[in-house]
Order: sequence, then C-alpha cells, then structure tokens
Amino acid sequence: MKILVLGATSAIAQAAARVWAQRGCELFLVARNGARLSAVADDLRARGGRVLTVAQDLNDDSLHEALLENALVALGTIDAVLLAQGILGDALKRDNDPAFAELVLRTNLTAPVRLLTLLAQRLKPGACIAAVSSIAGERGRAKVGVYGASKAGLDSFLSALRQRLRERGVQVTTLKPGLVDTPMTAALPKNALYASPAAVGRGIVRAVDRRCDVAYLPWWWRWVMRLVRALPEAFFKRMKF
Ligand SMILES: NC(=O)c1ccc[n+]([C@@H]2O[C@H](COP(=O)([O-])OP(=O)(O)OC[C@H]3O[C@@H](n4cnc5c(N)ncnc54)[C@H](OP(=O)(O)O)[C@@H]3O)[C@@H](O)[C@H]2O)c1
Repeated sequence: MKILVLGATSAIAQAAARVWAQRGCELFLVARNGARLSAVADDLRARGGRVLTVAQDLNDDSLHEALLENALVALGTIDAVLLAQGILGDALKRDNDPAFAELVLRTNLTAPVRLLTLLAQRLKPGACIAAVSSIAGERGRAKVGVYGASKAGLDSFLSALRQRLRERGVQVTTLKPGLVDTPMTAALPKNALYASPAAVGRGIVRAVDRRCDVAYLPWWWRWVMRLVRALPEAFFKRMKF
C-alpha cells in the first residue's frame, strides 16, 4: 500500500505510520521540520516501511501542486492519504490575537482544503483520503473557539468531498479524535479522558482499512458528542468546559 502522510511529524500521524510501516507499506512523508522528519523516517524504516520524505511548510500554497506531483511520481500511485497537520495554541492567544487566529484557520482549514482539492483531482478509484479533524469541531466552546471553528469547517468540507467523490470510488474518512496526549496538548492538565497517540493511530489505520465515513477515536466520543450537541443553548452557554 502506498500512503502520503501530510504533517508526518505529528504524534498521531507517527503512530498510524508505525502500523503501516510494520505492514511494509511505502510511505511518502511531508512535514516542515526536516530534522524531526528524518528521525521519524529512520524509525519507520527500522520497522519495515519504505520511506520517502519532503520537508515543506504545508501553509505555503505555492508549493502544493509540485509537492503532490512529486508524491505521485515517487509512489507511482497513492492508495491512501493521511492529512494530520494542525495547530492549537493557547486559548488566550488564539482568541485575542487576530493574526494568530488567522494562522490557526490557515493551518487547520484553508491549507488542508486546498491540498485535498488538488488531491481529489489526482486520486484513482479505491483510494482513501483520511483527514484528522477533532471532536472540537462539533460545537463551539470558549476554550477552543477558533480551533473548533477550523475543525467544524474541515468537517463540513470533508462531508461534501465524500459525497462528491463517492461516484468516482474515492473514500473520504473524517477522523475525530477526542483528547490525545501529544505535544499539542502538552500544556494542558491530563485526565482519564485522554487517549494515547498509539491507540488513536491504530484507530486511524482501522478506519482506513474499513473505509469508514466518520471515525471517533476512541469510539465512545460519538456518544459523548451526541449528548453535547443536544444540550440546549441557554444551558450550554453557561458551561465552562
Ligand atoms: N492532541 C489532541 O488532543 C488532538 C485531538 C483532536 C484532534 N487532533 C488533531 O490531530 C492532528 C495531529 O495533532 P497531534 O495531536 O499529533 O499534535 P502534534 O504532535 O503537535 O502534531 C501537529 C503537527 O502539525 C504540524 N504542522 C503544524 N503546522 C504545519 C505546517 N504549516 N506545515 C507542516 N506541518 C505543520 C506540526 O509540525 P511542526 O512540529 O513542524 O510544528 C506537527 O507535526 C492535528 O490536526 C490536531 O488538530 C489532536
């Protein structure tokens, strides 16, 4: 299987890539920090994967087309794409600094939409696009205002893309992790709701294998979020979570 991983240094993406490497998959990894990318690639090679890398800032639109062409030429074909890049930032900065809010939207929404639009034109029937969204996109909360909005936008785009590509036989999988213990959440206090990147990575591989439409990781977040969505607004606006 030939897989393109965007945001490959993410802890969650690395965990999924480890499973694919153990299966002997061919992986084309893209991330912006070259040194960390090399370390990730070495680890995946040691686990049995065939690995190619490109260090690139995925927010640089001007490089998107060439990047995807390179990946296609190098891999021959793309069976699956995992799009995982994202930023969270602290709530104070995110929601009070318009420039940072824009960076969150660019990283988590507009650059992914652009990349997936270009990929949609290039993928063959049978391929799968899996993108990491979040439960944070399901209902706007003060603690994750702009981040949640970026993931809500991504959810909506992925749903539309799934409908559009269905007839061409290309699967679109929306991945919705809950809380995961990764560098992104390093500054946050941990509790029993946190999952490990390894568990979420295994869930991603399973969701791609099964060609799921929407996968909550772990699965029980589906029911928690159903409850959160059902709360009346007059009550929800007073909550502090
Ligand atoms: N952790 C959670 O609780 C959680 C929950 C739900 C969803 N998610 C989502 O899961 C995905 C992976 O996050 P994670 O938890 O694994 O955190 P992470 O380890 O911090 O990964 C985020 C990755 O995004 C990359 N990135 C950010 N901006 C980029 C850019 N412009 N170009 C290329 N790469 C860029 C980062 O690269 P650098 O190291 O170079 O900055 C980093 O590798 C994200 O989309 C996140 O929103 C996370």
